[in-house]
Amino acid sequence: MRIAVVGATGRIGAELTRTLLSAGHQVKALSRGGPALDALVKIGAEPFLGSFDTGKGELDTFFEDADAAFLMVKTDWKNIHGHYPAVAQRFVDALRNSPVKLAVSLTAMGSDVKGSTGHFESFYHLDQKLNQLDTIDLVHLRAGWFNYLFVGPELHRYHHSADLREAQNYAVVLSLIDVLFGTFVYKPGRLPERIGVADPADYPRSVEVWKIMLLPFLPGIGRRRTP
Ligand SMILES: NC(=O)c1ccc[n+]([C@@H]2O[C@H](COP(=O)([O-])OP(=O)(O)OC[C@H]3O[C@@H](n4cnc5c(N)ncnc54)[C@H](OP(=O)(O)O)[C@@H]3O)[C@@H](O)[C@H]2O)c1
Repeated sequence: MRIAVVGATGRIGAELTRTLLSAGHQVKALSRGGPALDALVKIGAEPFLGSFDTGKGELDTFFEDADAAFLMVKTDWKNIHGHYPAVAQRFVDALRNSPVKLAVSLTAMGSDVKGSTGHFESFYHLDQKLNQLDTIDLVHLRAGWFNYLFVGPELHRYHHSADLREAQNYAVVLSLIDVLFGTFVYKPGRLPERIGVADPADYPRSVEVWKIMLLPFLPGIGRRRTP
């Protein structure tokens, strides 16, 4: 099979390219150029200069002779909400009239959730945009079981969703972690003022990774403002 790999020189893309080549596939490796691309060419990859992240290169021709594609966005943490839609649109424009029938897109946990989910909102839009390519069998690749092990405080919001169907779990019975972090405060006899996801504006910006990780330890940050 002939496979067009976006991000081919990266940590994920280079491993993928090596694996595909050693399995006997042809690989078109997209890169802005440099020693990492040269190394892939040495083992048999076909170089293609350009970047969906910057828009540089003859991107409309990248997929024109490929059977399958691997897609990834190089996250621009300074412009996450602007960058993902722009790159997703470039993918769609380049793929729409291509012969590609199979594609894998590197997306992330929460990409299936619509709403104010911080930087995961960008993955939602990426998935939705790519779904416009209805002639392509597309896989949105998420981290799988890892999602069940690591959930940052910001993502914890999902657990406190206002949707009743999402309350059907034993976290409400085994609430030790919430108690330890002070995110569950039992006040017998008093109804909570409101339940569900608090105002997203109260949370640190999704690019402020350290603030997000420190959230449980910094009273005041991210706590709901009282009127
Ligand atoms: N679930 C997830 O965690 C998830 C989901 C979606 C996307 N991502 C993103 O995927 C990347 C992780 O994959 P990875 O480790 O394989 O990627 P990586 O090695 O960090 O980078 C992938 C490619 O991006 C290009 N690149 C690097 N800096 C760039 C820049 N400033 N402008 C334009 N292109 C640039 C490089 O290609 P050349 O220099 O050869 O052009 C590089 O090979 C991260 O950016 C991550 O945020 C992660």
